[in-house]
Amino acid sequence: MKIVILTGAGISAESGVPTFRGPDGLWEGHRVEDVATPEAFRRDPVLVQRFYNMRRRFLLSGAVHPNPAHLELARLALQPGIEVTLVTQNIDDLHERAGSAGVLHMHGELLKARCEGCGETSGIREDLEPATICPECGEAGRLRPDVVWFGEMPYFLEEIGRAVEAADWFVSIGTSGLVYPAAGYVSVARDAGVRTLEINLDESATSGIFDDSLRGPAGEQVPRWVAGIIAAR
Ligand code: APR
Repeated sequence: MKIVILTGAGISAESGVPTFRGPDGLWEGHRVEDVATPEAFRRDPVLVQRFYNMRRRFLLSGAVHPNPAHLELARLALQPGIEVTLVTQNIDDLHERAGSAGVLHMHGELLKARCEGCGETSGIREDLEPATICPECGEAGRLRPDVVWFGEMPYFLEEIGRAVEAADWFVSIGTSGLVYPAAGYVSVARDAGVRTLEINLDESATSGIFDDSLRGPAGEQVPRWVAGIIAAR
């Protein structure tokens, strides 16, 4: 059985990582145009670096841990006869910390930097500053967070599209369904005859397209869903 799982900020909410939209969301405190576009980075790299430095520090602070939803998805992928493709819009590393391998980070990763000079990516756990030197080419001032900003092309699109069309199940967890192309995968799945399930605390913008839904916190609903699949086999 092939399962494609798409996760969004909601899966990490119970780990203490803020979501984007909603009362305490990151986009309530920051304007997207100021911190998450290539134009913003050209205009004020220090401000943009600071925004991601704060998020990276928090992620590495020891206060953030994978929750049962991340852990159960990793367990699901280990079941014989089940092939999981895990796609995430999240830039945190909580799926990896939970034990998932080969996660497709379509919006990039907070713990990676990319050099606008040589194009290489490198692991990063410290703050990025304008003077930070690229470990690959040695140039200063060309590193940026390896995250996909608004107006940029997400990663792995061909691979994800092929996996969705070939899946038996498409499961979307904790995403508002407002940001494309991720929000369009449920329609791709439906058009390909793939069964679709949404797990979310609330209605999302695409709830009406899914065959089935489980409402509630991911930390409760995901373990229940995974246990059901394993029990049924
Ligand atoms: N369990 C399940 N779902 C939850 C939980 C929870 N504990 N808490 C919140 N949610 C749901 C909300 O109901 C909402 O539908 O998670 C979703 C979070 O939505 P967003 O904040 O919009 O996050 P996401 O969908 O991942 O955003 C997509 O937008 O700004 C960009 O690049 C950013 O990757 C991000 C993209």
